This record gives sequence, structure tokens and C-alpha cells, in this order.
Amino acid sequence: MNRTLGVCYYPEHWPETQWADDAARMARLGLTHVRIGEFAWSRLEPRRGAYDFEWLRRAIDTLHGAGLKVVLGTPTATPPKWLVDEMPDILPVGADGSVRGFGSRRHYDFSHDGYLQECKRITLALARALGEHPGIAAWQTDNEYDCHNTTLSYSATARSGFQEWLQRKYQSPDALNRAWGTVFWSMEISDFSEVELPNLTVTEANPAHVMDFRRYASDMVVRFNKAQADIIRAHSPGRDVIHNFMGRTLAFDHFAVGADLDISSWDSYPLGFLEDRSDQNDDWKRQFARAGDPDFQAFHHDLYRATSKGRWWVMEQQPGPVNWAPHNPAPRDGMVRLWSWEAFAHGAETVSYFRWRQAPFAQEQMHAGLLRPDSIEAEGYFEAAQVAKELGELEGELDDKAGLADVAIVFDYASAWAWEIQPQGREFDYFRLVFDFYRSLRRLGLSVDFVSANTPSLEGYPLVVIPGLFTWSPALLEAIKAHGGQVLIGPRSGSKTPDFAIPQALPPALPDDVLGVRVSRIETLRADTPVRVKGGGTLQFWREYLEIGADTETLLSAEDEVPALVANGNRHYLGGWPDQELMRSILQPIAAAAGLTTFDLPEGVRLRRHGGHVFALNYGETAFDLAQLVWTGAPLLGNLVLEPSGVAVVEISGTES
Ligand code: GAL
Repeated sequence: MNRTLGVCYYPEHWPETQWADDAARMARLGLTHVRIGEFAWSRLEPRRGAYDFEWLRRAIDTLHGAGLKVVLGTPTATPPKWLVDEMPDILPVGADGSVRGFGSRRHYDFSHDGYLQECKRITLALARALGEHPGIAAWQTDNEYDCHNTTLSYSATARSGFQEWLQRKYQSPDALNRAWGTVFWSMEISDFSEVELPNLTVTEANPAHVMDFRRYASDMVVRFNKAQADIIRAHSPGRDVIHNFMGRTLAFDHFAVGADLDISSWDSYPLGFLEDRSDQNDDWKRQFARAGDPDFQAFHHDLYRATSKGRWWVMEQQPGPVNWAPHNPAPRDGMVRLWSWEAFAHGAETVSYFRWRQAPFAQEQMHAGLLRPDSIEAEGYFEAAQVAKELGELEGELDDKAGLADVAIVFDYASAWAWEIQPQGREFDYFRLVFDFYRSLRRLGLSVDFVSANTPSLEGYPLVVIPGLFTWSPALLEAIKAHGGQVLIGPRSGSKTPDFAIPQALPPALPDDVLGVRVSRIETLRADTPVRVKGGGTLQFWREYLEIGADTETLLSAEDEVPALVANGNRHYLGGWPDQELMRSILQPIAAAAGLTTFDLPEGVRLRRHGGHVFALNYGETAFDLAQLVWTGAPLLGNLVLEPSGVAVVEISGTES
């Protein structure tokens, strides 16, 4: 595998006379890929049918002439004004019923059939005109589905589309009434046309109703993406189809969208995310303000790798201060390099920086690029240059395939929707729960793969962790039964039927021959009133009361004697949300029983195994000596004494364990 670097570029932002120089400088820097075009609809079709693709062709010619490979974006995230004026009902409608207007981006409704046709039309025209251009290596569909919370739209078109979707799913109003339990509060319907959208209700809407609306909305994103992917494949053969996902975005099923992609990618803004999307306290945010959270990027690398059968990129990598978080600090020296290497540690093919030159105008004028607005190199440029040089030096030395990780975490988008609909306690958030497990596993030095709850492949994993799963898919239950390794299930896993009801057998709804445990009641807790566990540590936010069968043993109890962790052989159930230290002390012996070697890493140091090598990364501010783990030999990259922002690549055969 050739590991490469790229950049996001907007030829339409700069005079044509500058393009050749830009392209030559990109190539000199060691970049190989350039993503262009994804917001350029108003330049590609200034009026209906008046296509102007010639400037884009010249831009592609120029980049290709400099030896660069183009990733061409479809411009469908930004319908131009004339189109919005022609079809004003493509504008999305917020949950409060207000129409979201023109003047920024993503002002469209996924459920609008007319807009879908428009997107197919422009994609087809572009693919026909340029699809065979030798400079085009790949396509990006649209840009960041759900950015600015745009998956859900409460429009008239969404309402009729949802009604049809329900009709297909339930066939009869009676079946819907039974599934949703609409006898409650006189919500019964006698015709699908009576179903409303679940917004603007007096108090909460029926969770089964909201859940189906979330499934419908996710299906609309899948449909939208697939329509473009099909056209691109037909008219631009041999090119990879990519989409750029986002951080902590769970509004649609990324596994389902990923099934129609060749490569998943995501947009990584470590400092923006720490400020904007982290549950950590202020001390943590201060500590990592210029480095980013040591697990947030890795989590998404691992998650998105799973959504497209292993091939993945970082399409946008933060190169300096961004413009959109509450505060926008500059990265610590070395962090742009570290973030880039971390992506490769997790198997990325390409890391592409956002953006080439800082724009002096419009919404993102305060967002750094590799170049300053005056075209002088900005700080991030030099770090990208260093990565390019190091990639060259390491070429052929690293394995193509990562191999199976130590741990598989079962991940499920429907679970995120379910607990958003019914948190039961303010802090209960699916991402937060899964991320806590992920962080604990990584503090133990373990490498993680994610697997989909719907198409789980658990074979070969020494340890499988299943936190907060809404409902069991038959495939997952079968996979657990067949699994010979260690399994840790819960909290809240298997606590609903697919129709969003409490299972008759009570959660976790596991057959007794899988694990004899029943959740008899649950409680949620204020952050300042956790439940203490015998031997130290607490359960926070969410706590279950477990009844166990004769074959099940209690491994850990709360101080009030209620079992917290129970097991039968290699299958464990955890009845609460442990604090970080308790979580590690629960996971460590299970990992040991799985035959895994664990460490006790500092807060800022992380390891990732890739084939025959381990990558070590230091997000912290103090040096860390890798020799105190087990490594001795000289690293392929970096030093055993890992400085702040340091990266080292160590051969696993050099270990003594
Ligand atoms: C991304 C987006 C880019 C740009 C960038 C700024 O979310 O895809 O177009 O807005 O953020 O950080």
C-alpha cells in the first residue's frame, strides 16, 4: 500500500493564473492528491442547463499536468440560488417548524425527490463530461452528510415520504398500532396518511414513532448517496467513490452508507472537536487544548475503517487554527505531524489537509491553510513536508495490512438514536458510553476494531465488548454463541425489542444458555451521586439491579450488595457505567484471560498495533520512555524516549513479552 498525502483546493477561489504555481508547489511539497469542486455548483451551472465545465477541466488539466491526482467532489451540498428559487421546498425544516434558509450550505432536504433528481442530473453531467479524464482518481459524493444537523428535516415531503416508508414496513395501520403501542394516550391511526412527524408535540412523542422516523431519515441519506455512487461508477469507471464523514456524528447509519463506497473518509479537526464535542471536564480540555483528545481521532479512524471494508482516508486534516469552535487555539508544534502519522497508524491510505491556502474572504477566512492568505507557507506546511519526507523514507518498511486488533467493539447507529430518544438520565449518551470503553481499552495499550451490530464478524477476536446495544440482531446473537473468546456485554444492552418496547424476558434478553442474567430494575444517577463499588470505584449515571441464574457468578458487587459484574465462563455482563478507573480494572483481568498483554499508559500516550509494528504517539506534555513497556530495539521512526508530540514506530519482534 502506498501511503500518500493530499490537500483540499478551491480553484474557483483563485485567479486562473495562479493554478499552475499552486499545483507545482503542491507536488514539490510531496502531495499526491487534490480534492476539488465540492461546493462549486454556482460556477458549474450558473443558470439551469447552462453548464460551464471548461474551467474545471482546465483546473484538472493543470493539476494532472503537475502529476497530481484529483478527487472530484459532486457539488450537491450547495444548491445554487436559482435552483432554490425554482424549488423552494428543497429547503430543510427544523424541529421547531422553521424553514432553514439559503446563504450558507447544506440547505437541502434528503427526502425531496425533486432535489434528488437535480443531484442526479448534475452528477451525471459532470461524470459524462469529465469522468474519463485521466487526472481524476476518485470522487467525493456531496460533502459531510449531516453537517450542521441536516439529516432530519420536518418538511411536508418528509411527512409524505415517511408515511410511504411506514406503509411498506407495516403493510396495515393495525400492525403499526401494535408495534408502536398507540393504544397508549389514544394515538391510534386508521390510515397511514394520519401519521404526523414526531416534532411539535405537546410533550415527548412516542419513542417507537421517533425511532422509525430516525430509521427513515437515515435511509434517505443512504438513498441520496447511492444515487450518486451509481452514476459515478457507470460513467467514471475505475475511480474510487468516497464520502467524507464527520466527528461524533451518528444521525445516519454510516455502515449502510459505507456499503456503497469504495473508501470511507472523515474530516479530522482534533482541536475543534476537543472544544466543541468532548464530554471531558475543563481540566482535561486545558491539558490537551493544543494537542487534541488522545482518543478522539483514533476512535473515528477505527470506526470509519470498519464502514467500508477497511479502505479509508482522512479527507480533511486540521492544519492550524480552525474558525468554528468556541475557542480556536493553534496546534502545539509537531501535532499536525502527529495527527497525520496517527491516521497511518490506524491504516489510512491518504491524509489530505484542509485547505491549501487560507481564504481571505467569506465564512472561513479565519481558518488556517497550509499557506497563509499571502501564499507564504504557514506552520502546518512544514509539518506536512516532514511527513512527506518520512513517508518516503519508510516506504516498503510498513505492512499493508493491520491484521485483527486485540478487541472488537460492537457499534450500532440505531443504539445512538434510541438513547437520544430515551436517555432516561441526562448523561446517558451512546457515543459517550462507547467512547469511555474505547478510552479505557486504549489506556491499557490495546488496539481496537469496530464491528457492525448488524453484520458482526467476531471471529478471531480475543475480546469482544458490546456496550449500550439497543437490540440484538439475530446475526449478533449467533456470533456471540459461536464466539470462543471473552465477551463483555452491557450496560443497557439488549434492553429493547426492535419496536422499542421492553423485552418480555426483561433485558438483556439473552437466552439462558448464553448468559443467565436479568435486569429487574434500573436507576439513573446525578453525576454527583454515583454508587460505590466494593474494592473501590463507582458506577455513575446508569445502574442496573441484576438477578442471576444458578450458573452465573458475581464477580463484583456494589457496596449495597447488588451485583455489578457477573459472568458465566467467558461471557460477562456489566450492570452499570463504571468510572474510568473502575472500567480499566474491570477490563484488565478480562483482557488477561483473553491472553492479551496490557499496560498502564499515561493519560497522553497511546499505542496502535499495525501488522508487525506498534505506533506510539505522545499527546502529553512530558516525555515517556517506551523502554519501560517492553521495547528495546531501535525504532523505525522516532525514538524510544517519546518526546511531547513524538511519534515512534517500533517493531513488535523487538518485544520481550
Ligand atoms: C469541514 C467542511 C469543510 C470546512 C471545514 C472547516 O467540516 O467539510 O468544508 O468547512 O470543515 O474546518
